[in-house]
Order: sequence, then C-alpha cells, then structure tokens
Amino acid sequence: MMASPSADSAIPVAEVISALSCALDLVEGQPKGHAVRSCVFAMHIAREIGLPPEAQSDLYYASLMKDAGCSANASTMMHILGSDDIAGKRGAVTIDWTRMGWESLQYALAHVKRGAPFLERMRALFTLAVNKRQDAKVVNQIRCDRGANIARRIGLSEASAEAIQCLNEHWNGRGMPQGLVGEQIPLLSRIMNLAQTVDVFYSAHGEAGPSAAYAIARKRSGRWFDPDLVKAYGSLARRKALWGDVENATWRVIELEPREEHLVADDERLDNICLAFADVIDAKSPFTYQHSTGVAAAAVTIARALSMSEKEVTLIRRAALLHDIGKLSVSNMILDKPGKLTPEEWDSVAKHPRYSLEILQRISSFADLSELAGSHHERLDGSGYFRGFGAERMSTSARILAVADVYDALVAKRPYRDALPIEKVFAIMGKDAPRALDRPSFEALQASVPVERPAEIPMTEGLLRLSAAVEQGSRVEDPVSI
Ligand SMILES: [Fe+2]
Ligand SMILES: [Fe+2]
Repeated sequence: MMASPSADSAIPVAEVISALSCALDLVEGQPKGHAVRSCVFAMHIAREIGLPPEAQSDLYYASLMKDAGCSANASTMMHILGSDDIAGKRGAVTIDWTRMGWESLQYALAHVKRGAPFLERMRALFTLAVNKRQDAKVVNQIRCDRGANIARRIGLSEASAEAIQCLNEHWNGRGMPQGLVGEQIPLLSRIMNLAQTVDVFYSAHGEAGPSAAYAIARKRSGRWFDPDLVKAYGSLARRKALWGDVENATWRVIELEPREEHLVADDERLDNICLAFADVIDAKSPFTYQHSTGVAAAAVTIARALSMSEKEVTLIRRAALLHDIGKLSVSNMILDKPGKLTPEEWDSVAKHPRYSLEILQRISSFADLSELAGSHHERLDGSGYFRGFGAERMSTSARILAVADVYDALVAKRPYRDALPIEKVFAIMGKDAPRALDRPSFEALQASVPVERPAEIPMTEGLLRLSAAVEQGSRVEDPVSI
C-alpha cells in the first residue's frame, strides 16, 4: 500500500523547493546546489546588513526560486547561439556581457554555432554582434517575467516575485531587461545578484573559491553590484561561519529559513508547486509544450476508471506533473532537433528518468512519488529504461503513468504535426499492449476518451519562434519514447 503524499500536510516548503531547485541548476548549466548555495550567501548578506525579518523571508524564497524562469528562454538561447543552450547559459554568468570587449568576444567564439562551417559561423557571429543587446533583452525579459509569475503561482509574496523580476538589473543601469539604476533596483534583487555571482565563482575555483568570489565582487562593485553590499560581503567573507554554511548548503539552507514558524506546504500549495514546476518543465521546448499537464490529465482519468483511492490518484497526479523534471538536464540542441538523434544524443536523453528520480527523492516525503516518476519509461517486457524493470517491478500506478505518457506524446499537437486522430493513437498503442504497456490501463483509457486536456496556455516568445522554424523543417522522429 502506498503512503499518502498528503496525509500529514506538513511538508516544509523550504524542503520541497530547495530540492526542486536542483532541476533549475541543470537548466542553467550550474553545478548541483547552485540555487541553495546562492540562498545561503544571500541570507548571510541579509543578516550582515540587518535586513528586517519579513524581508529576509521574502529574500529566502526568492533566492531558491530565482531561476524558475530559466527553462522558458532555453529555446530562444539555443536559437540565438545556434548551439548548446546549457553551455551558453553557463558561460554567460562568468563573463561581463554588458561590455563589448575581449570577454564578450571570447564568449561568442566559444558558444556561437560550434562545429558549423567557417562561413556559416562568421555569419552567425556577425548577426550576434549586431543584435546582441536586443537579443539579451529578449532572453532576460522572458526569463524574468516567467520566473516572477511562477513565484506568484506558488503563493510567494509580491516582494519575492519582484525580486526575481529584477534579478539581472545592474547597479550602473546596464542590466536587463529594464535597465534600472542604483536604488531603483529592489534591494532583494541587488542581494540576489551578488549572491548568485559569488557562488558561480566560488563553485568554479575549487580551493581558491572564496578568494575568486571576493575578487569578482570587488571587480564588479559599482557596475553590477551595490558597493555597500560588496562591502558587507567583504566583512562576512572573512568569517568561517559563512564557508561552513556554504559547504553544507544542502541541509543548512533548511535551517536558515528566517521564519519562526516555517512555511508549510498544505495540499493546495503542494499541488500548486507541482503545477508550477510542470510549467517549468514544459516551457523548455515546443516538443514538450503542456506535456506534463497532459500526462497528469490522462493518468488521473485512468486511475479513476480503475477505481483507485483518492490518495493514490493524488500521488499519480503529482508524479505525472513532475515525471520529466530530469529532462531539464537535456540541451535544447537535442530536445528541439528536427531529425534523428545520434547515439550520444540518445544517451543524454535516456538519463532523464534517473535524474527525475534523484531530484525528487531528495524530498523525504516524496519516496513513492520519486519511484513512480523515475519509472515512467519502464515497460512490462523489460524493454524500457533506465532500469529495465519488467512487469514484476511495475506497480499499477507505474503502469498507468507509462500508458498516460505514451498517450499524451501521441495525442498532443506538435509544431511539426497536428494531433494524431484518436483511432491512430489507439492503433499504435494497441500494438504494445499487453506486451509492453498495461492492457487494463490502456482499455480504461480507451473507454474514457475524450480525456479532458488542460486549457491551452500561450507559448512564450522563444517557443513561438522555434515552433515556426520547426514547421518549415521536418521532424523525422516523434519523441514518443522520450
Ligand atoms: Fe520522459
Ligand atoms: Fe513524458
């Protein structure tokens, strides 16, 4: 019997979103734990400057969710660079992209159209140089708007949402997307920008991390960062307490939550967190647009038709919403590829259920949910991945999720094709049931059509651009098995 995911309704929000923030680190190309370490840096700076407790609380949640909008601009980033969005994002935080010069040139040479013929590459570099500021503004606007909206959706304060909205504004007015100057930038955003940058340099320099972090804070003081905050950071960076907390950020971040009464995720908030992260996952590519919510709708329909208990239905719905969270680790060069995947690209894709399992099992009360999510590509005959489970290792819930996942991939409208007719969807699935797909789940689904799909949400600008590009090309491979 599965444990209830919601019986106690006493899961700390900090535990849930700090664990899920690891998925955002993957999209940003940052080492695991970047968001939680940034949060630890931010909380120390906040204490050092005597930030009032309520503002500290706003800062805490905003820091953990600061990259919530990062997947929404991944396609645009890949489109602009013509190469790996994850590497491009990683590179963009270590250089000063606000200034023309050697650093920007190095970045362009390292990330634009890698591997393309010389002339094509030169053309892309020229286009990037001409459009650089406008492109950077678009990329940042998408990310900041989306991030702030996700924060609101999970019930964070308006101050937290605003802090995320203005995360990439710079003290000298050269930041994005609004070009706010000095104290026009919310204080929480100024702290978060400093905190995230020092973590990037701390994490990238091994034992020399603390001095590299301090050096970059000094170097960009008055340009990127508020000089008073850099001064405060300089004082606390000399104390061992900061580095002890940063080293142990995974668990220290929970203890650093400023509220006396910790924010708790009741059923409604937990549902909203799962829905918000489903949006983050689906926003990465037009090929997966609204996939997680579509799978959840199909899985719940099957579970109800099979008379499963409401507790089990809740577990299945949440697992379905988060099942592809590990896919955030896959570059859009692969997810959006209009052709067949190479063996190396396929290897990268095949790891995503394992990442889903690893990310979700960090939440202590998600033991059943993480197992379920990690099993969504398993098949009854053992032909699935990543563990090759057969029928004996697949619970009823896992079988339902596998059927719902295939169904949504086939039935959803995609940029390169219209939704398949339902008879064709069932004909394709029927060939795999009962050998690979569970027959009772499949029949319950057949008896329940049409499954009510979630309301259409407009695509982000990045997804629309890519959608248009894909419509003109041809996608050879349908990502049913992805
Ligand atoms: Fe998947
Ligand atoms: Fe999926």
